[in-house]
Amino acid sequence: MKIAMIGTGYVGLVSGVCFSDFGHDVVCVDKDPKKIEMLERGEVPIYEPGLHALMAKNVEAGRLSFTLNLAEAIEGAEAVFIAVGTPTRRGDGHADLSYVMAAAEEIAQMAKDYVVVVTKSTVPVGTNRQVKQVIKKANPGLDFDVASNPEFLREGAAIDDFMRPDRVVVGVQSDKAAEVMNEIYRPLSLRDFPVVVTDLESAEMIKYAANAFLATKITFINEIAALCEKVGADVKQVSKGMGMDGRIGSKFLHAGPGYGGSCFPKDTKALARIGQEHAVPMQITETVINVNEAIKRRMITKLEDLCEGSFNGKVIAILGVTFKPDTDDMRDAPALTIVPALVGGGAKVRVCDPQGQHEGEALLPGVHWVDDPYKAAHNADLVVVLTEWNEFRALNLKKLARKMATPHMADLRNVYSVKDAKRAGFEAYTSIGRAGFNKD
Ligand SMILES: NC(=O)c1ccc[n+]([C@@H]2O[C@H](COP(=O)([O-])OP(=O)(O)OC[C@H]3O[C@@H](n4cnc5c(N)ncnc54)[C@H](O)[C@@H]3O)[C@@H](O)[C@H]2O)c1
Repeated sequence: MKIAMIGTGYVGLVSGVCFSDFGHDVVCVDKDPKKIEMLERGEVPIYEPGLHALMAKNVEAGRLSFTLNLAEAIEGAEAVFIAVGTPTRRGDGHADLSYVMAAAEEIAQMAKDYVVVVTKSTVPVGTNRQVKQVIKKANPGLDFDVASNPEFLREGAAIDDFMRPDRVVVGVQSDKAAEVMNEIYRPLSLRDFPVVVTDLESAEMIKYAANAFLATKITFINEIAALCEKVGADVKQVSKGMGMDGRIGSKFLHAGPGYGGSCFPKDTKALARIGQEHAVPMQITETVINVNEAIKRRMITKLEDLCEGSFNGKVIAILGVTFKPDTDDMRDAPALTIVPALVGGGAKVRVCDPQGQHEGEALLPGVHWVDDPYKAAHNADLVVVLTEWNEFRALNLKKLARKMATPHMADLRNVYSVKDAKRAGFEAYTSIGRAGFNKD
């Protein structure tokens, strides 16, 4: 199959690379010249484990290329994927569809022969029908179909998720489009990965429902964690005991500083907005959004408690600022709420993150970036584990504590324990949903 992929971000690039690894001929297009220049030089503009090697392999095999020129990419393509951003629209929480519609318009102007226009971006129910209208209007004579193919990959594990998905969801209106989509995903269906074929609206809804459900699960355990702290329970044990129930499952039950990232915050907001527009309020999702905000603010209070009630003049070391490990993505990361509160409160903040500096520098003004957790902790009054990168999972806590002016730790990912902290010489330790200690 010949495939064009519009957008070389986290989803477009991973999808394009993986499709080429399936054996398809893939041309990836982006309108950002810097990204295309990097890709043409063999560099990957994002941090995603394994992506560089897989990309190089398929470029070398002649199945994968990059261009700024959409017409060139579309020439002879049986499917054109739209994988552009759908961020939250300012003011109303709606998904901003301007990039998707602009891409649809451009496809309409360039396409000549039958093509399936596949939306991979996460879009509200009804968007694929809108895409169809936009293309029809711009190029009334074009023979085409639309298809919805939402993506479920997780940053940090994107290649494995794409290559070994729990399921592929495809929404179509015609058998012809279904055939093209089945052909594209044949390498997966042959290996018994399920391809679920639905109508357009159901496919669009599956993606929002799935993300809202996962955001709810995380928020539920985060709220339980707050209660655990008050009643003397240990949320790690609670999660374990809950997760062993097959009806519940153990995933997404790790308590932390609130969900963030490029998807959950914007997709929950968009779902809430879709509900309002149809007079079917998504009350659970709306509550999840509010509770998640409160959870992030609760983290600030926790840190304040370890700083004798004020950040002013304190030196604070932040370990990890990306929204999760193994990505450089800072979009809606809890760090973007927590760190500015520390800087605004008069703290001197040092940040260490294996991949976050490039994105984070502009987003976190007033902090000092260091490349080593022990340097970050030098003379500090508080160290905060905010993202559980492997680099921060096995720290020499004794060495860390010795470097600090007042050895206090806030472990917002429950990587360590009271026992570990006490043994290492920390004088105060707090985590999420478990008892802490404070010598004072
Ligand atoms: N990031 C994730 O983990 C993830 C997971 C599942 C689904 N999604 C969804 O996938 C979509 C893309 O997300 P992302 O994180 O990859 O976005 P991103 O912002 O990283 O990438 C989007 C890319 O599209 C390019 N672009 C925009 N308009 C273009 C046009 N007209 N022509 C060519 N290129 C254009 C941009 O320059 C950018 O490089 C979103 O709808 C998102 O919700 C993301």
